[in-house]
Amino acid sequence: MNERMQDAIAAPSLGEAYREHFLIGAAVNAYMLRDEQYRRLIRRQFTSVTAENEMKPERLLDREATLALADPVRCALRFDPADRMLAFAQECGIRVRYHTLVWHNQTPRWFFAEGWSDAPDAPLADAETVLARQEAYILQVMEHVNRVFPGLVYCWDVVNEAVETAQGGPDGLRTRSLWYQTAGPAFIARAFRAARKGRAEGQLLFYNDYNSYFPDKQKAILKLLSGLQAENLVDGMGMQTHLDLSRPDLPAFESGARAYAETGLTLHVTEMDIHCPGADRESQAALARAYGSFFGMLLRLKREGAKIGCATFWGVTDRYTWLRFFRRQESYPLLFSGDLKTKPAFDAVMDALKSGERSTGPPAE
Ligand code: GLA
Repeated sequence: MNERMQDAIAAPSLGEAYREHFLIGAAVNAYMLRDEQYRRLIRRQFTSVTAENEMKPERLLDREATLALADPVRCALRFDPADRMLAFAQECGIRVRYHTLVWHNQTPRWFFAEGWSDAPDAPLADAETVLARQEAYILQVMEHVNRVFPGLVYCWDVVNEAVETAQGGPDGLRTRSLWYQTAGPAFIARAFRAARKGRAEGQLLFYNDYNSYFPDKQKAILKLLSGLQAENLVDGMGMQTHLDLSRPDLPAFESGARAYAETGLTLHVTEMDIHCPGADRESQAALARAYGSFFGMLLRLKREGAKIGCATFWGVTDRYTWLRFFRRQESYPLLFSGDLKTKPAFDAVMDALKSGERSTGPPAE
């Protein structure tokens, strides 16, 4: 693809290069951790990790063991997959962005049902029961993670994707969510109150969402955040940042990020990738320009005073990107190739550090 491609494990470390600005993260998956080459790459290049799936409710919740507890509120959790990932991060000296405590997706319906029933039409539990379950779940996860791995998690995605403006209900909230259907809008503040109770000192609490810079969606999220801020419940906004090379939208992203920064919250880019269907040299050069502009813009916002704490990529190499399934199309959206080499996009993100103002030039054509 490019003569400058280097072995990603031997190449200079992106995480180290950016250390004085913000953390550089990657979403990692259990199968990557079974591969020694991936372990070495992650250890070399990143200063933050997020579990792609292993810390989501569906992976933690154990229905059989929950039924055995015979408790209407407390559920049983299995931590092994999450713990393996946390142990890896600890061994590498990499900090963890915990993703995610409360989400409408990847949370089984039985969690919301009366008697923990998994019948597809089982009646849903009442609001207070669901909110009590939510609090118990959050406290149990936080207690476990902070006891077994003290100091490792630096922030928590407390609520993911509660806003859905297009079909959204009052305040743009996602009414199709079982959280909303059982507990109404209260589930959001209640989740943050529980997380504030359970967090360890210094851990930041985040709201996380996609397309969060689209004007109507941003308006709804800013309203939600200001309610949470009034109670001092939220510390950060997570912008997922799944972009598309055919319309990278960088100026719109920048003004959206600036509006979040003005709230005084910490800003994290939490799930960055740029969909790029071509592996050819030209497509990858365009991808590199887009990444260069994007990181130039983040550095500029940081210099202007935005509290940017982390930029996390959603994946490590092009080999395992979720976009291939999501888009039903080839995609080569990341900084490292499937054969563990640095791509031109890697050089562009490195170069953004050197080029200062120049990296803020026009986005990819
Ligand atoms: C959302 C979630 C992530 C992940 C992606 C798709 O962005 O926040 O956890 O599931 O979708 O992989």
